[in-house]
Amino acid sequence: MKRLTAAILVLILLCLPVYARESLLYMPDGREIAVRSDDVPRWQDKGWLQWDQVYTVIYNSQGENREVLRIDLDLWRGQGWSDNIADMQTTLFADDGSRAAVWNDYVEDSLAGGLHLTEAEAQTLLYGADGTEMTVWNAEVEAYLTQGFYRTPEEAHTVIYSPDGAEMTVWRAEAEAYLAQGWSETPPARSTADPNRPMVALTFDDGPGPYTDKILNCLEKYGAKATFYVVGNRLGTYSKQLKREAETGMEIGCHSWSHTQLTTLNASAAANDIKRTNDRVNELTGIRPATVRPPYGSHNAAIRSAAGAPFILWSVDTLDWKTRNADSTYNAVMNSVKDGDIILMHDIHSATADAVERIVPALIERGFQLVTVSEMGSARKGGLTAGSAYSSIRP
Ligand code: NI
Repeated sequence: MKRLTAAILVLILLCLPVYARESLLYMPDGREIAVRSDDVPRWQDKGWLQWDQVYTVIYNSQGENREVLRIDLDLWRGQGWSDNIADMQTTLFADDGSRAAVWNDYVEDSLAGGLHLTEAEAQTLLYGADGTEMTVWNAEVEAYLTQGFYRTPEEAHTVIYSPDGAEMTVWRAEAEAYLAQGWSETPPARSTADPNRPMVALTFDDGPGPYTDKILNCLEKYGAKATFYVVGNRLGTYSKQLKREAETGMEIGCHSWSHTQLTTLNASAAANDIKRTNDRVNELTGIRPATVRPPYGSHNAAIRSAAGAPFILWSVDTLDWKTRNADSTYNAVMNSVKDGDIILMHDIHSATADAVERIVPALIERGFQLVTVSEMGSARKGGLTAGSAYSSIRP
């Protein structure tokens, strides 16, 4: 008895998988039948079909899906559904170049959110300083702009001026070579000064500083111009004063990056020091200094030639830095001033600013025109020559 029970149990266990291996077959109209797996071919001969021959998955433009009979497909298509998922999606492009398949109903939202319909819209054409063109993803543009690329060919160009005033538009990469030959990124000063009347150039070294504004107030009040020989490492702290010098039409010249005696450097290091200072002035004001005042008046032919700019010395030394006395600075100017003088002062001393308030009206009273160094060069010499040194610019 026990043996029989065991035998029946084994039989049942053997048969179970066979009964469990049941398949569903379908008619095109959705009728279904469950058959034993090994009977499937026989039923198929009678016209019964597998699930995917009868049903399909369809999608709508909002991303919903459902299983429907293939015979109803045209009906569903008429209502905007499709069994091809690609029909219901649009590939959009992100600014970083990645792609996203978006359900058609959400395309507008995605476009408003910053995606693009075409790859071209996700890209920007940039121009190198030498005119090369490069297409980058929109997300990369800012990084490229900091690496010397520009949004337009116009921005990749710069206008340069020869010492005699000729103007030329070149790629920025080409400008360096011209600048080294004495061309400038700022137009030569067109002097409004009358060349037949006496003139002097007031110059202020070592600034900008806390007294620069007081000096500018005075110059503005009398419609006078002056030249400020600035030190590069002060420009961040006194950028407001530097910008005001530019805005009020003063000339800004280079007095080195950190007041280094240029003759202690080799010519190319000296030229780099000057360029670094001029780049910083240009960055802050859009103006590129055209003249150099070497610290301590110390210079040589190799440095002047490497710098490719006129070097401006002085004919009246007020010694204001030493005396720190307004009377003595005033007297130093008024007792010796002549037509064509270049007058040396420093806008970092309070006493100098006091003296300027008396010097400017007194010079005008005596009939002097107060002009910038480059204006005086333009009025008297038809321009200053790169590589030359000037202590005065006489008629
Ligand atoms: Ni100095």
